[in-house]
Amino acid sequence: MQKLISSTLSQVILDNNLDDSIKEFDKKVFIIDKNVYNLFKKKLDFLKQNSPVYLFEAKENNKTLTETEKIYAFFIKNNVTRNTIIVGIGGGIITDIAAFAASTFKRGCRLQLIPTTFLGMIDAAVGGKTAINFNGIKNNIGTFYPAEKVIINTQFLDTLPKKEMQNGWAECIKIALIRPSNLYAILISKNWKIKSEILKLAIDLKLLICEKDLNDKNERKLLNLGHTFGHVLESISDYQISHGEAVAIGIRVAAYISNKLEYLNKHDLEKINSLLDLYNLPTRISASYINKLKKHGLNILIRDKKVTSKLNVILFEGFQKAFIKQVDKPKEIFELFIQYLSKVS
Ligand SMILES: NC(=O)c1ccc[n+]([C@@H]2O[C@H](COP(=O)([O-])OP(=O)(O)OC[C@H]3O[C@@H](n4cnc5c(N)ncnc54)[C@H](O)[C@@H]3O)[C@@H](O)[C@H]2O)c1
Repeated sequence: MQKLISSTLSQVILDNNLDDSIKEFDKKVFIIDKNVYNLFKKKLDFLKQNSPVYLFEAKENNKTLTETEKIYAFFIKNNVTRNTIIVGIGGGIITDIAAFAASTFKRGCRLQLIPTTFLGMIDAAVGGKTAINFNGIKNNIGTFYPAEKVIINTQFLDTLPKKEMQNGWAECIKIALIRPSNLYAILISKNWKIKSEILKLAIDLKLLICEKDLNDKNERKLLNLGHTFGHVLESISDYQISHGEAVAIGIRVAAYISNKLEYLNKHDLEKINSLLDLYNLPTRISASYINKLKKHGLNILIRDKKVTSKLNVILFEGFQKAFIKQVDKPKEIFELFIQYLSKVS
């Protein structure tokens, strides 16, 4: 068991056995992704013998209030108190809903998370955002509630489908592009042997930002790099464009717009695109989506839940120098968004 990071928000531990960290003495209940449970039955079966386990089907449609109520009922049946440790094991869907349930049940119970996707390890399980979807809007309800412990076990990555790994790479590259760090050098070296080093650096960078702004009022907005445009792409494609693909294209759009507005020079624009190319992340969307984007894209962009009175977009004012730009005239930004996609698609 190796301590990766100890931040003021959470303790992050690398534990490829799981045994040490899971078998601790405290009373625990587990919420586990059904797929993960089946894939890692041998490793996880002992939990069922010793503690209450709730198996959850990791579908976006299940990240709801109705499913949360079922989790509350499971807590009541198993006499969960504020001192009970609720452990969520799975990708972002599980960690989001398990953490939401833990943060609201009896006004907040103890929480530990064991993310099993790459995206979960570097993003969803760290930083303290919990969420459920409501009224057709993703992550519409939630709390800020960092887990006391996040346990990283890289063995879970062995069974992760390629598409899910790509979602993680897009987020990892996003983090590397926000601020200067060694993560960029490691990513361009493509040295897979340092998987745990990549995880450590990416988690560290995310936690550094979240520690300063847990409630997402200022600096944390930088983590939306690629997401404002990405959400539009996910939405107009009815989620046929995956989150990772949308974020990767969103980062390219942000870099293109930054260059057009003369914040970012051509050399740095190419450096950003080359890094995304190195991880085979897409440059464009299918031409069939362009008309839909032209018709509905602007409305989706300004309806984005992160919009206050002005539209906040994350742009680059240099390589590894993201900044928040408050936009009075979203139409101009939207036209550049369309211009980029029309050029490449
Ligand atoms: N709270 C946050 O800060 C935050 C940040 C980013 C994303 N999210 C949320 O995370 C969710 C996406 O999470 P995700 O990308 O981690 O994936 P996921 O939870 O959607 O899981 C994707 C698929 O992978 C399967 N899976 C999980 N672990 C596996 C493993 N080790 N081997 C094989 N299959 C495995 C799942 O069963 C599921 O079928 C979204 O709901 C998003 O809103 C939250």
